[in-house]
Amino acid sequence: MTKLLNGNELALEIKKEIYDEIKKKIINKKKRIPHLGIILTGNNKSSITYVNSKIKECKNIGIQSSLVHLPVGCLETKLLEEIHKMNKNPLIDGFIVQLPLEKHINHNKIIMSIDPKKDVDGFHPENFGKMALNMKAFFPATALGILTLLEKNKIQIYGKYTVVIGRSNIVGRPISILMSQKNNFKIGNSTVTLTHSYTPNIENYTKKADIIIVAVGIPKFIKKNMIKKGSIIIDVGINSKKNDKKIVGDVDFDNIYGKASYITPVPGGIGPMTRVMLLKNTLIAALNNRKINEKN
Ligand code: GUN
Repeated sequence: MTKLLNGNELALEIKKEIYDEIKKKIINKKKRIPHLGIILTGNNKSSITYVNSKIKECKNIGIQSSLVHLPVGCLETKLLEEIHKMNKNPLIDGFIVQLPLEKHINHNKIIMSIDPKKDVDGFHPENFGKMALNMKAFFPATALGILTLLEKNKIQIYGKYTVVIGRSNIVGRPISILMSQKNNFKIGNSTVTLTHSYTPNIENYTKKADIIIVAVGIPKFIKKNMIKKGSIIIDVGINSKKNDKKIVGDVDFDNIYGKASYITPVPGGIGPMTRVMLLKNTLIAALNNRKINEKN
């Protein structure tokens, strides 16, 4: 039998914990509520949808948010100027620059210009490097969401063989590091293979995997004949067709249902877990910020 890893349900529980913490440590002490900045560029439909849901989730939980939306074709200098303002604004606890950026903008330059203390996405090399070295830092939300979903469902991963498909800086690379990390989050210690578009015969890896984490953006990429019986399938894909609101994951859900032991649904699996981890990182940034301000 295949069990569903319900991200909606767990995200709701974690939101309640975050809300309780905001109430106890911030609202009851009459401190300023956490504040997330969001910089959105251009008119990518998926990015607009993601940003709107992040704003809505902030509102529901008592986190203030401020959106700066720059138009299509905006200059890199303008984007850098807005990042600089967020870096310097003491009322913004943390912020994100929604990705992907338009082609004329230098992605690395943008990521490097974010103050690591406000980098609640965990994309700045200082945070990413600390994460890789098993040090305290902001970790990317999707990777945190996956680890938390596994941990809360009491799925032990140590000693298991994990195959990650997709090597993006947002998902594949960070989760491959964290899954193999020594004792990270009490889970980790998995043996990891990171596969990608240049890996020949990916099924040779996936067929042996105890855990498959797929983030390739190809609808229904993982099929029944590519997995081992009883494996755990984490689907990070969010794919939609033009003019169709229905979203599908990177896993052929109906096809593999029954063969896997656990699977994350799409929607309702990793998506809500990612969003709630951004809220959690924002709360951490806010609490860090309050501590710094109290010292001065
Ligand atoms: N685009 C897709 N996922 C993400 C994310 O987690 N953060 C940002 N900033 N952009 C994204």
